[in-house]
Amino acid sequence: MTVASGTRQLAFLGEVEDAMRAAIGAWSGPTALAALDPILAGGKRLRPLLVLAATPVGHVPGADTVRAAAAVELLHTASLVHDDILDAAGQRRGRPTVVATHGASTATHAGDLLTSLSLTSLTDIRHDPDVAASDDLEELVTQAVRLLAHTTRSLVSGEAVQAEQERRPDTGIDAYATRCSMKTGVLFGCSMAFGALFGRAPATDVDLLFEVGTGLGVAFQISDDVLDCVGDAARTGKQPGTDVRSGTMTLPLLLCAQSDPEVAAELASPRPDVDLVLERVAASGAADAALEQAGTLLDETIAKLDDLELEYDFDRLRELSRAAVRRSA
Ligand code: IPE
Ligand code: IPE
Ligand code: MG
Ligand code: MG
Repeated sequence: MTVASGTRQLAFLGEVEDAMRAAIGAWSGPTALAALDPILAGGKRLRPLLVLAATPVGHVPGADTVRAAAAVELLHTASLVHDDILDAAGQRRGRPTVVATHGASTATHAGDLLTSLSLTSLTDIRHDPDVAASDDLEELVTQAVRLLAHTTRSLVSGEAVQAEQERRPDTGIDAYATRCSMKTGVLFGCSMAFGALFGRAPATDVDLLFEVGTGLGVAFQISDDVLDCVGDAARTGKQPGTDVRSGTMTLPLLLCAQSDPEVAAELASPRPDVDLVLERVAASGAADAALEQAGTLLDETIAKLDDLELEYDFDRLRELSRAAVRRSA
């Protein structure tokens, strides 16, 4: 990344941060405080970074793009708050989760508030004095709202499919990948599509970047699932073994269970021996095999960038995609 693009990125993220805080700041009371917690805790802000990276060269992202990036990060944060209730997770972004601090009821409301603020971030584009007026704005907002609604539905359905697969070590790898696409991939796809859409790219580029983002999101989720087995809490900010404990069937766990009946039995149990499972996953090579699959998917996904019509910062897109998958945090 050049110094100029690094500076532009910092400024963009700063504006997204301000937009999210302003959205929550318009509310008061325990729900708003609980919703602000995970925003203040930080996070990689990967989805806003994808929005920016998917903006065509020559288009200077304006307040509409900032609002679109805030929308995807708010929806992501909402999904994490609810996900931590479902997973009974104690730690997130290096801090106690919203459910651990505020309880399930307030955490549920906080997630709902964040979801609604995500949508409002888009619908208010038309009323934001910082957004430059243009003839196509109405149509762009309509398309963006439609995509965000689709993304929200997909996320919810993905979590529901995950619940159906709970403690089922016979879950097929394809069924796992479909679930990852629904709960994680589509939001990545939506983020990249937003960059192109508000960057006034042609529909073919918007669609292709949605596809690229979706593939990247699946590869990202696989690497997250590996980190849950072999990662370091000091880096991930999350407690390892949460997937085993909550009965979530992930690629490294499924691959390990395929050749180890004892692990399969533990994964099906309501009280699995977490240490045993994690040791076997590491020793069996299942974690490495899962990462290899993520790497293959990443390469296939990055290759699709060649078919884009407009010019983008391809080096940045590739660098960001690789860093998202080959990570330790
Ligand atoms: C966590 O996403 C949820 C998954 C889809 C695996 P991130 O790893 O992007 O979380 P933050 O935003 O950096 O905390
Ligand atoms: C991703 O799944 C959560 C959502 C997409 C909502 P995980 O359950 O693996 O995410 P973490 O590990 O809790 O961040
Ligand atoms: Mg989780
Ligand atoms: Mg995880």
